[in-house]
Parts: sequence; structure tokens; C-alpha cells
Amino acid sequence: MEIKKVAVIGMGTMGSQIGIVCARGGFQTAMVDVNSIQVENGMNSIRKFFKGQEKKGKIGRESSEKILSHMTSGTMIEEAVEDVDLVIEAVFEDVEVKKNIFRKLDKTSPSKTILASNTSTLWVAELAAATNRPQQCLGTHFLIPAALTPMVEVVRGPVTSDATHNTVIDFLTKCGKETVTVADFPGFVINRLYLPMVNEAFFALETSIATAEEIDRSCVKGLGFPLGPLAAADAFGLDILLACMKTFHQELGDKYRPCPLLVKLVKAGHLGRKSGQGVYSYNHK
Ligand SMILES: NC(=O)c1ccc[n+]([C@@H]2O[C@H](COP(=O)([O-])OP(=O)(O)OC[C@H]3O[C@@H](n4cnc5c(N)ncnc54)[C@H](O)[C@@H]3O)[C@@H](O)[C@H]2O)c1
Repeated sequence: MEIKKVAVIGMGTMGSQIGIVCARGGFQTAMVDVNSIQVENGMNSIRKFFKGQEKKGKIGRESSEKILSHMTSGTMIEEAVEDVDLVIEAVFEDVEVKKNIFRKLDKTSPSKTILASNTSTLWVAELAAATNRPQQCLGTHFLIPAALTPMVEVVRGPVTSDATHNTVIDFLTKCGKETVTVADFPGFVINRLYLPMVNEAFFALETSIATAEEIDRSCVKGLGFPLGPLAAADAFGLDILLACMKTFHQELGDKYRPCPLLVKLVKAGHLGRKSGQGVYSYNHK
């Protein structure tokens, strides 16, 4: 099957960027979120991305407008998926929320439609088992910022068919992405390696080994990271990081215990850039 139309469920940090990737690849892209405020926020962040790219001279106004013209947005999943070939789910990292979406997608999308999840750490097998088409389910793990990061991890569930896998690889390649296919296991490769290190940076901060700025500066200047781990945590959302670490802890053991400082910040509503306050403060304009 060749992908022509796509739907993206969830227009938060990742969904809005994934929508850009799909529309930029020339695919008709239907974007969905729970209410009109979330939809508007998502569309605003998409427009802001293009404005930033235009300012940097990376894209012309006409090209941005053309990409935006491939996108529609709304709150009704049923309408968005009625004639799509691929759905990419990018809602909260909560297995029950995602399973409900997969059940709904299974009922409302055409039988040919491939269902993909952008989960960071959950079992694709569990999401696929909520549907009657597990062979058409897989993970497409985009990395933040999805519109700019070259790599996507493609996660094969235990029964993902070759046809599904190959169709999605072809689609991602047309979107300009490099892919790596990995087995279904919590955190796959990238998050299995990266998130425990970010969690460890919170332990280092909690035990006052250094300030947040010094921890980040050590990693940027000493290890060549593009962004320090604490600044990166603020960018991807402390709530998402905590949800991922909880899955690791539950699935892989005590070595992956979320740092209490991370738990405390999330309980205080300090979720990072998206809430204006995380490890660092952000001026919300
Ligand atoms: N943030 C990151 O850096 C990052 C990186 C890679 C993967 N991920 C994964 O991507 C997924 C999304 O993460 P995020 O950071 O974009 O989260 P987010 O909190 O920024 O956005 C989630 C969005 O999903 C929407 N949503 C929730 N339930 C919905 C429903 N039933 N229907 C439609 N929309 C719904 C919310 O309103 C919100 O806009 C998670 O699985 C996360 O683990 C995140």
C-alpha cells in the first residue's frame, strides 16, 4: 500500500511537529486534539515553527504556506481518520489513554489503515492488542524536535507484518527521515540509553554536585551534547520524562527509579518549557 493521507492524534510538543513532517512530505495531514483550545495551541506552535524557519532563511513564505495548506485540524477523530492510510498517535504517555485511542481508531478508520504510536517507552504489543489489526500496528518514535531531527525509530510489534513495516519505512523516507528498526522493548534503543542519563542529572542536581547550569554546561562542553540534559528535560516535558521513567522502573527494575526531585517538580506543576517553569524559568510571550 502507498500512503497518501495521514492523521496525527495529539497536537502537543510532538504531534504538532510530526504533523509538520507529514505535510512537508507532501501528504494530506489531518491533525486532531481534544478541544479547540488545544487545537489552536497546536496550530500556533506550527505557525511559530515556520516563522522561525523563515526568519533563519531556511524556508520561504510561499513554501510554508504550501505545507500549511496540506493540513487540516479539528477535534473529531472519526472525521479525521475516515479516509486515511496511516494514523500516528502522539497523546500523553499513558498506556490506558493510548489503548482507548487505539480501540477507537480500530473502530473508526478504514480496515486498510496502519496505526502507529509515537510512544517513548510503552509496549507496542499492548497497544496493538487493543485492536483487531495488530499486524497493522507499529511504533514510529520521532525525536524532539521531530521536524528537525533526522532519525525515527521504527518499532516492530511481535506480529507487525512486513507489508506494514515496509510501507511505513517508505513513507518516512519520503518525509526525509532516516529510520532504524528496533524490537518492541521499553524505551527501544534511544530512550533506553538517554533517559536514565537525564534522570541521573536530576540526582546530581538533587545532591548538589553542581548547579543545573554547571551540569548542563559540563555535558555541552565536555561531552559535545547539543543541549544539556536538564535543559533537554525542560524541552520534552518533565511530566513525559517522569511517565517514561515510571515505565522503566516498573518494567526493568529499581535501577530506573525516577529521581524524587523530578517527581517533586512535576507535582508542583513545573513541567518545563510548556508550563513556563521547569528546572529553569521561561518567559512566556
Ligand atoms: N516530548 C518529547 O520530547 C517526546 C519525544 C519523543 C516521544 N514522545 C512521546 O510522544 C507522545 C506525546 O508526547 P508530547 O510531549 O507531545 O505530549 P504533550 O503533553 O505535549 O501533548 C499531548 C497532546 O495529546 C492530546 N491528547 C490527549 N488525549 C487525547 C485524545 N484522546 N485525543 C486527541 N488528543 C489527545 C493533549 O491534549 C495534548 O495536546 C508521548 O507518547 C511521548 O512519550 C515525546
